[in-house]
Amino acid sequence: MNLIRDLAELKNEVRGVKSEGQSIGFVPTMGFLHEGHLSLLREARRKADYVVMSIFVNPTQFGRDEDYEDYPQDLEGDQKKAAEEGCDLIFFPEKKDMYPPGYLTYVNVEEITEVLCGACRPVHFRGVTTIVAKLFNLVEPDRAYFGQKDAQQALVIKKMVEDLNMNVEIIVCPTVREEDGVAMSSRNKYLQPVERKAAQIIYSTLLAAREKIIAGERNAEVLRKFMWQNLSQEPLADPDYVEIVDEKKLQRVDQIQGPVLLALAVKFGQARLIDNLLVEV
Ligand code: PAJ
Repeated sequence: MNLIRDLAELKNEVRGVKSEGQSIGFVPTMGFLHEGHLSLLREARRKADYVVMSIFVNPTQFGRDEDYEDYPQDLEGDQKKAAEEGCDLIFFPEKKDMYPPGYLTYVNVEEITEVLCGACRPVHFRGVTTIVAKLFNLVEPDRAYFGQKDAQQALVIKKMVEDLNMNVEIIVCPTVREEDGVAMSSRNKYLQPVERKAAQIIYSTLLAAREKIIAGERNAEVLRKFMWQNLSQEPLADPDYVEIVDEKKLQRVDQIQGPVLLALAVKFGQARLIDNLLVEV
């Protein structure tokens, strides 16, 4: 497996791969890899001739009082895990090369970035779309893989690709969960053991709401209240938002008529965890 830090070196490698007519599958990450990330690598490996993973803790997607400085890192462990999944190249650029002094350009997708996580994290998605656009330009992938765990992020990236006529296919892969249902996340590392246990309430709340929909409940306000109440049974859970939105525009729905996304963000101590469930009716 190749390890490249330098941008010019990466471009050179990509040129070589492309000139041989090989297809490139790409998995962008911020590292501290877990099974969720590895499931994306595996999916990329199934179709691509050459698989690239990027590891870059992107400063522009963190708010001023967020966890950029504390974000967990383990480059050595990540290399080992990625190599075991048959990754061909890890690109791990430096901040000074991705955002050199005098950097001025940002990509912004409107509207769908202003709800859910965008409402609580105002600069977040602008940072995500900017770094992903830059990475796409550098890696020139045929396909790029994202997790349903970050449903809003995947939708925002798809919209950017569509609106900017980018030449890459976006593939969204299912959320990988721990045995007790907690969605895997690098941020789970911040949880104290009691908080980790308490975090089970997130997925169980999503499942309970889905059961109510399956049983015939169509009033979204009733379901939102139900989810809030469910979460408030857990004293360590401090919910940021509890939403039921349509799956395309992420607008809040009143009546459930088609597929909806149940989406939650909940704080446990220092950690802010998100999860979601797509429910078809
Ligand atoms: P990161 O949080 O490292 O996640 C990288 C990719 O892994 C994302 O597409 C995310 O949705 C996916 N992922 C995370 N947890 C998952 C899980 N439990 N199951 C399935 N997929 C999961 O998301 C980012 O990094 C950044 O915002 C990035 C896109 C790299 C831009 O900086």
